[in-house]
Amino acid sequence: MLQMLEGRSLPPLLEREAMLQILQSEVYGKLPGRPEELTFSTVEENLFRNFCAGKAVCSKLTANCMVNGRAFSFPFYATLPTSGNNHPFFIHINFRDWIPDRYMPTEELIDNGFAVLSFSYEDVTADNGDLTNGLAGILYENGSRQKGDAGKIAMWAWAAQRVMDYAATRGDLLDLESAVVCGHSRLGKTALFAAAMDERFAFAYSNDSGCSGAAITRGKAGERVKEIYTRFPYWFCENYQTYIEREAAMPFDQHFLVASIAPRRVLIGSASEDIWADPVSEQLCCLAASPAFPLGFVGPDRPASAGEAFLEGDIGYHLRKGPHYFSRADWQRLIQFVSLHRGR
Ligand code: GCU
Repeated sequence: MLQMLEGRSLPPLLEREAMLQILQSEVYGKLPGRPEELTFSTVEENLFRNFCAGKAVCSKLTANCMVNGRAFSFPFYATLPTSGNNHPFFIHINFRDWIPDRYMPTEELIDNGFAVLSFSYEDVTADNGDLTNGLAGILYENGSRQKGDAGKIAMWAWAAQRVMDYAATRGDLLDLESAVVCGHSRLGKTALFAAAMDERFAFAYSNDSGCSGAAITRGKAGERVKEIYTRFPYWFCENYQTYIEREAAMPFDQHFLVASIAPRRVLIGSASEDIWADPVSEQLCCLAASPAFPLGFVGPDRPASAGEAFLEGDIGYHLRKGPHYFSRADWQRLIQFVSLHRGR
């Protein structure tokens, strides 16, 4: 038994399908299905003249979906390199639709050979308890949400899948074997869930995702089910509240989420001052999910020091010094991880 895992008594990993069933019915709710129809339209091509000094073109598009017989659309952005092809690419679930953005150093991503597709999560459905707006309003007409139905994390993950649907039409420029879904904090939880559910994502990156994301809940410091569900009940399905102060009874822990991404690759990023998310419990998740991967976590059985990164295994972990933030330094670790594993 690894020393770091002592005292956490985690449920053993199950087959991927069984873990996904549990995570959906108990935590995030059932992921909405593919839209009945889906088309993409260009709102504006080449938004910024000479963008990235001419190395990329950024366009605004819309995903036009038919869901439950009703039309629903949301905007997203594609920033594609102007030269070369076969580019690995990020699908960044962002807090804003800005390009570049303080959480997205676009030119640097382009300079490293990546393309980036991004959208602002609240263009899908607002980050509040109102279940009548955006996608939520279409799924839950007349407040019809049932206990195991999708919460908003699942809806944002669904939107990341639609952006992946668009990417799949751009095999002329993109390496469809190197799709990376990523996000910070609540959107890191979302990125992990999207990757767990959809095997087209070859890589997932969660940055400071913490409780109900990459951190093991049992024995966790900072936020736990009670705190998160009290403030953000609508992120989850209603069943999740049954585990408030009953975490030992959960038939899962967050290593199920990370293990469901196997045999694909996942990188977990923490920040040393982010006690609310709890870096140690995030690293633990890597250790606990490790057996699901061909080459699991390759790193020491002790908490990382600030600045350390363990990138060799199919599950990587890095700990940035500093506070809760999706920083350039985090992106650089992600670029390193993808570049190392891509094509391996
Ligand atoms: C809150 C919440 C966290 C979440 C974070 C964020 O702090 O408690 O669970 O990750 O917001 O999304 O920034």
